[in-house]
Amino acid sequence: MSKPKVILTRKWPDEAEKKAKELFDAVLNEDDHKMSIEELKEAMCNADALCPTVSDFQINSDVFGVENLKCKIVANFGVGYNNIDTNAAKEAGIVVTNTPDVLTDCTADIAMVLLLSVARRIGEGERLVRNKEWSGWCPTHMLSTKVTGKKLGFIGFGRIAQAVAQKAHFGFGMQISFYDPYPPSDEIVKKFSATKFNVLEDVLKDSDFVTLHCPGGGENTNLLNNDRFALMKNSAFLINTARGDVVDENALVQALKNNVIAGAGLDVYAKEPTVTEELLGMDNVVLIPHLGSATTETRVAMGLRSLENVKAFFDGKEPGDRVA
Ligand code: DGY
Repeated sequence: MSKPKVILTRKWPDEAEKKAKELFDAVLNEDDHKMSIEELKEAMCNADALCPTVSDFQINSDVFGVENLKCKIVANFGVGYNNIDTNAAKEAGIVVTNTPDVLTDCTADIAMVLLLSVARRIGEGERLVRNKEWSGWCPTHMLSTKVTGKKLGFIGFGRIAQAVAQKAHFGFGMQISFYDPYPPSDEIVKKFSATKFNVLEDVLKDSDFVTLHCPGGGENTNLLNNDRFALMKNSAFLINTARGDVVDENALVQALKNNVIAGAGLDVYAKEPTVTEELLGMDNVVLIPHLGSATTETRVAMGLRSLENVKAFFDGKEPGDRVA
């Protein structure tokens, strides 16, 4: 029997591509270009499975609606799947999967990197040293904000958020609070001695650091807007490793400019790879290029997880990470 044809929309780490070739008739994206919508549509007609990712054009009803649709499963390389219109997938009868768990720790590490960097002015300090502008230690040089023991509030308290809480609470003695419309078990709340808020606004009012861990798109678009920034302490910092569109970037710029909040650490942006120009000039903002899952170990594991879902599907089993 011939192997299912699987198209990867971007270049994957070698080990994961090797596995793809072993298991399937795999079509790789050797030059790692961003596939056009036409190419995505063609792939839907030529492949049994498509493995897209966050930086692709959205796979929406237009793409799912191609004539001669062949693809049966879209196995996303990534835990967030706002690059796929799952309602359109359901209508087209296509299974959608993602890659949870394998990126939890590394993404949580990056949230802590941003939190510590923005509070302790690490980017600013590094720029000073590299620019040979450092004139030496003195008691008032580059004073920053202490992290240990401070209040850390979560918007969304799923797997990645809990991994951040693990590091922040047990490593840095931070006090944890959260808002999540689908809250975790009481056991988890107890583990972190966490405060569960029933409204998002209370997390904003209470926290020294607010970290975002909710999905992007839909009703979460621009969740953090002018009104909500106004509720935060003006000494507070915002951390975003979730999705860029959860934050209204213009409102964020205003909040930073007008000292409504103290700073922000961002890994994700509303219009990646474009970053709102005004953020680039601000010293109280740490900006990194969507690095949450970017370790070799994790990116290999994400590829293998995506392939496991495809394999399960073609073996006639329910894929472990089905989301639609
Ligand atoms: C994800 O998996 O959702 C990440 O943002 C991509 O690394």
